[in-house]
Amino acid sequence: MSTQKSISQVWGSRLGASPDDLNLEFCSGRDVKALPMADEKLIKYDIWTNLAHAEMLCKTGIISDDELDELKGALLDLFQQSESSGFELDPDKEDIHINVEHFITHTKGIAAGKKIHSGRSRNDQVATDMRLYLREELMGVIEPLGLLVESILEKAAEQKEAIMPGFTHYQPAMITTAGHWLTSWSQALLRDIARLINTFNNLNLSPLGAAASFGTSWPINREYSAELLGFEGVEENTLDCITSRGELEAEIASGISMMMNHLSVISQDLILLSTPYYNMLKIDDRFITGSSIMPQKRNPDFAEVIRGKAAFCHGALTSLLGIIKGSMSGYNKDIQISKYLIMDLFRECSPAPPLLAEVIKSLEFKNDEMRKLAETDFMNSADFADWLARKHALPFRECYDLLSLAVKYSEASGKITHEAICRAIEENKSEISVSREEIEMINKPSSLINRKNHTGGPAVSSIESMIENQTGRLAGYRNQIAGKKERIESAWRRCFSGA
Ligand code: ARG
Repeated sequence: MSTQKSISQVWGSRLGASPDDLNLEFCSGRDVKALPMADEKLIKYDIWTNLAHAEMLCKTGIISDDELDELKGALLDLFQQSESSGFELDPDKEDIHINVEHFITHTKGIAAGKKIHSGRSRNDQVATDMRLYLREELMGVIEPLGLLVESILEKAAEQKEAIMPGFTHYQPAMITTAGHWLTSWSQALLRDIARLINTFNNLNLSPLGAAASFGTSWPINREYSAELLGFEGVEENTLDCITSRGELEAEIASGISMMMNHLSVISQDLILLSTPYYNMLKIDDRFITGSSIMPQKRNPDFAEVIRGKAAFCHGALTSLLGIIKGSMSGYNKDIQISKYLIMDLFRECSPAPPLLAEVIKSLEFKNDEMRKLAETDFMNSADFADWLARKHALPFRECYDLLSLAVKYSEASGKITHEAICRAIEENKSEISVSREEIEMINKPSSLINRKNHTGGPAVSSIESMIENQTGRLAGYRNQIAGKKERIESAWRRCFSGA
């Protein structure tokens, strides 16, 4: 996945490895890159839609076998040309659909090219092209997201016992394990995968044959063209086929916004815990960037870019929702803008999961530092109160009060001392007693952690079962995805045979 080449930027001498190319590209973004025309991305899908439509016109007797052969020949030539030397879109011909029709009829001189628009409109044509495009792009997010989950689960297995501090309000809270922390990330990302697969299913229905919005009097067979395009079926009502354009884009933007939010939380954790002040993690040098003025800098730019891209994604979602909000049923040209928004969104966000997977794989956990920090700031106080309450059958609040005082009297030593808890017990006129051995046991993080062995807790046994459950869920999703991909690829082969 990751690649490296010699670096030409000004920073980097401190780093033990050259920056990863994926990382440099991800971080420099559009600063140094031009954007292609939107409809260039639709060329192969428009050819596929044309092929399926032409096959359907022939099957229903609207065009002859010879006419189909000629149309197919021209379309496959166009495909080959666009794959090898590219197909330059002529802006005078408005969009991809008119460019392709012109290619068949004028460049190739095929008379049947004038019949190919029978029983369809650009409205259902673009809706179909977009669903084909979205299907592929969405798969391109879901699959690497699976790789990211896998890399997190591998790290969680490796770090399942590693003690670390847990935070609330960014403040030391309770002791936990790196395994617990990592499986919280993967659990969230598995929800994202499930959500995106659901969206994939929603968009995997054919709008072709809806024509302008109101169907056609030609004797078309929508089920047949849907099958040729690898769809699971047809989106039935023709008016909704056209009006719903943009809705699936918004659904995708919503699912990806949620995913980007999760990636942002992961990024924020990585940024903070790898600073010299927390010093719990080391991000591999390949994913570190530098400064043109401060030679010592080790910047986690990729993580900041992920947070920025999450905001970009939210903007696209808001715009998409706005575009589809108030138009009358049927085609409205506002919807053309949805194409630019969703293409921008995929371009910006798709590289994030595979990049983060590489970062996680090479992430170094500073286990000694993590453990040392977990033993500071009285992070065991709540667990100590729980232990006392259970051992002496006391109300939690009574023990909480004892611990409050014990923390106060231990401030100077940084850990709850025997003297402090005895003083607290005496002051509160409690009947209980605590031995030095018990204090030692309580101050030992691992003895606390392994008591939290309920479902989803940070005990090693709980982490092991979470890893097992999540691995099983991931395998299930991967199976579903493989089935869907196979269906799409075989439909593609059927239409493009001879290309
Ligand atoms: N290029 C247009 C789009 O992306 C499709 C054209 C349909 N145009 C029309 N005037 N009905 O939406």
